[in-house]
Amino acid sequence: PLPEEVPAVVIGSGYGAAVTALRLGAAGVDTLVLEMGRLWNGTGADGKTFCDMLKPDERSMWFAGRTQAPLASFLWLDVVNRDIRPAAGVLDRVNYGDMSVYVGRGVGGGSLVNGAMAVTPKRDYFTEILPEVDADEMYRVYFPRANAELGTNHVDPGWFESCKSYQYARVSRKAARRAGLTTTFVPSVYDFGYLQREEAGLVPRSALASEVIYGNNHGKRSLDKSYLAAALGTGHVTIQALHQVREILRQPDGRYTLVVREIDADGTVLVTKHVTTRFLFLGAGSLGSTELLVRARETGRLPALNDQVGQGWGTNGNVMLGRANHVWDLTGAKQSCMPALGIDNWHDPEHPVFAEIAPMPAGLENWVSLYLAITKNPERGHFGYDAATDSARLHWTAGQGQSSIDAAKSLFDRINRANTTIYRRDLFGDTRAFENRFTYHPLGGLVLGKATDNYGRVKGYRNLYVVDGSLIPGSTGVNPFVTITALAERNVERVLAEDVLS
Ligand code: FDA
Repeated sequence: PLPEEVPAVVIGSGYGAAVTALRLGAAGVDTLVLEMGRLWNGTGADGKTFCDMLKPDERSMWFAGRTQAPLASFLWLDVVNRDIRPAAGVLDRVNYGDMSVYVGRGVGGGSLVNGAMAVTPKRDYFTEILPEVDADEMYRVYFPRANAELGTNHVDPGWFESCKSYQYARVSRKAARRAGLTTTFVPSVYDFGYLQREEAGLVPRSALASEVIYGNNHGKRSLDKSYLAAALGTGHVTIQALHQVREILRQPDGRYTLVVREIDADGTVLVTKHVTTRFLFLGAGSLGSTELLVRARETGRLPALNDQVGQGWGTNGNVMLGRANHVWDLTGAKQSCMPALGIDNWHDPEHPVFAEIAPMPAGLENWVSLYLAITKNPERGHFGYDAATDSARLHWTAGQGQSSIDAAKSLFDRINRANTTIYRRDLFGDTRAFENRFTYHPLGGLVLGKATDNYGRVKGYRNLYVVDGSLIPGSTGVNPFVTITALAERNVERVLAEDVLS
């Protein structure tokens, strides 16, 4: 049962939320974490917690009758997706017109489903997107702290050169080098030592068993094994799974009462509860936190929220694409699902791109080089409130994604020219070469310094904070979770000292 009142509540259990819960708990503040997804600690009939990408079942997606994987087809055949029983699966695809957003659902948020790439942003770009944040302090204190606590590790370069797991990455590196481009190793929170043992056949396979977007059964240091485990270890933090916060009400004395819906894994609403708190931290992710505040403003519950709530949303410039390799350039049937290499062309003055070399783990040779390109796209979307469905709706049009495609095309045309290769046009359900109708990296909606002050305090209300990716103004130039984690470390330190413990 939920307590009627608790000193601090954190909504969600992704990166920002997990940092906040740990630091509150470590300071002795009793804290309740409310997460709408499941606690992923049990096992299914197959003895596993998560299903893989080749045989998805009801554990894969959040209340969907059919999986909706980012790669929709192969040779234009509808062979990727499967009909499934709708249930509280681990990956959600939230569809808003021209843009779909993938998010993790469960204790650990996006850390359960993501590619584990732990990339610290380039300092000059970080300064460009968040000029009010002291970059010196971030790079000296908070990025190192975040990486240490997340368990970021690096691939052994010697092993990388000879292993089977990254043959696909070496093939893509060769193609990039022919075009005069540079690649860089990508740090990870997947344990590369475990991966080496997987390849050697010493331990159960996970990254080498097509596991990633529907969860990893081994090897990955997701938040439930890092920040959230440490938070629980303080003895001051409780996590309630399958609890979705629907509304935020403000009491006359300034405390917050949350309306919380408890569901079971089949989606049945068991009960609606209320919990009251003095300090409320929103860590429900860019979509979740923004929706809670847009709804609160538009329904008159928190009328003093400013007009920046719901603004400044971006896709981090995500574009996915595939290239067809020559028959002699084998990518390998066994591919590590955890990327370890990127093409770094961010310094390009016209079309900055940081492209992750992604796996295409089909279990057989497919001659595809796949990429997730991160581009610098200045377009921003915004959220409005839809009273009929009582939800926030993202406004983003296909045209706003064009500059991302232009940037990716400029880089990969160059690679194709240098290698006399072509794009794969059979992967995204039609004949497009560039897929940017979805993002893995939703950022913004409650931007730091605009909807909040420079430390995530929501403008207009005391003791109400934003702690997650919604603070970041639409782009970080790299995969975002290290940035989200480090910013949360910085902000919670200040909030603890000045607001909570003072
Ligand atoms: P996050 O989205 O992690 O967590 C929010 C949590 O709040 C969720 O668990 C959600 O269920 C919960 N919630 C939402 N609304 C709620 C409500 N009303 N009540 C209760 N709970 C609620 N990044 C990266 O750096 N490297 C990578 O390799 C990848 N790869 C990648 C792959 C895939 C498939 C995805 C989907 C994403 C990535 N990412 C990534 C992105 C990364 O995972 C993402 O940026 C972070 O998880 C965002 O962290 P947040 O703290 O903002 O929220």
